[in-house]
Amino acid sequence: MQRSSRERGTGLPPDASRGVVWDWSIQGNTLSHSLHGSVNADPEPREAWWHMNSVPQYRSPFNQWEERAAVRSMSMDFSELERDAQGEWFHAEASGIANHPEVIARGRRQDVLAALLLGYLDFTFHLEARCIEPVGRDISLHRLDAQYDAQMARDAIRVQCDEAFHALMCAQLADHVKSRVELCRVPFPEHLYFRRVRELEASTRNSLSAEQYAFCVAVVSETVITDSLQKDWQNLSLRPSVREVLLQHYKDEVRHSAYFSQALRIVWPQWSEEVKRTMAPLWSELVLAFTRIDAELSRVALRMAGFSEQDAQRIQEETLRTLGPMADRGVSYKLTLRAFREAGVLGGQREYEELAGALSPNALVP
Ligand SMILES: [Fe+2]
Ligand SMILES: [Fe+2]
Repeated sequence: MQRSSRERGTGLPPDASRGVVWDWSIQGNTLSHSLHGSVNADPEPREAWWHMNSVPQYRSPFNQWEERAAVRSMSMDFSELERDAQGEWFHAEASGIANHPEVIARGRRQDVLAALLLGYLDFTFHLEARCIEPVGRDISLHRLDAQYDAQMARDAIRVQCDEAFHALMCAQLADHVKSRVELCRVPFPEHLYFRRVRELEASTRNSLSAEQYAFCVAVVSETVITDSLQKDWQNLSLRPSVREVLLQHYKDEVRHSAYFSQALRIVWPQWSEEVKRTMAPLWSELVLAFTRIDAELSRVALRMAGFSEQDAQRIQEETLRTLGPMADRGVSYKLTLRAFREAGVLGGQREYEELAGALSPNALVP
């Protein structure tokens, strides 16, 4: 395992001022992200640049962060956003339980959707606090057993600021939902993704540092969530407060997915063959765990909406039988697969196509 690189110097390459901006734009209801323009990453390189001819140069996607980040610009007055507004609390298609005939017959559809939203917000809160913020801290402290420049380390602090704000955004929207919908108090279980991340970690202990594994988990989380948010915020049936949170989160995550994709491309080639061999079977497991329907969470949502344990179990099982255990939630993996391919984490084209095929027939990135 590489350890010595932690102590090496930091600085910027002499040509760091040549950069590009990863940015987003909105046209009507379509939000796109792209690379364009140029940015001064740092006008004064402070130290001699180390021999990094083979390591890609980092280009900051945060050049407009001060004006555009949600933490700098977003209002969280959800009541104002919802004045006279109608809409659904969550995507009905995200889990079929809200459309189960018994849920509709008992007039509980919106309650179930509100409970599913609370589950989603609870998951996102934990994701930010447990998975992403600590990785931002690790990168900023040069704990990844790889060399990278000071700008990348500094931007990791911006990621931390964003994620702390996203956690707050989720907590405040959850408070707003609870003030508007009366639900039973049922604690959320450990979310499926975190359980799987924990289980998979056991096989990495002798080959990866905790920081390296956490970074890999963050890369998967940050790229998959961006693809998911891009689809989710555009759902016009959602209440304005929910759409606003999804949209603001998406805009920030476009920057983050660009950041983590680049970070992967920079650190991965520097890691040992043992690290690469150990992670090889885990990438697909992590991606699938992130998007798989959490059956336990569905049952809790039904119980929060007033269904008994027995009824919740039955409704959830009937729904899963209808949808199939790996119901297609319309999730895209394009950003994740692109990050994997550009960093070379999967090996060759054959491995890339195998993973794309396992995730979805449409997952191949052109
Ligand atoms: Fe986030
Ligand atoms: Fe993020």
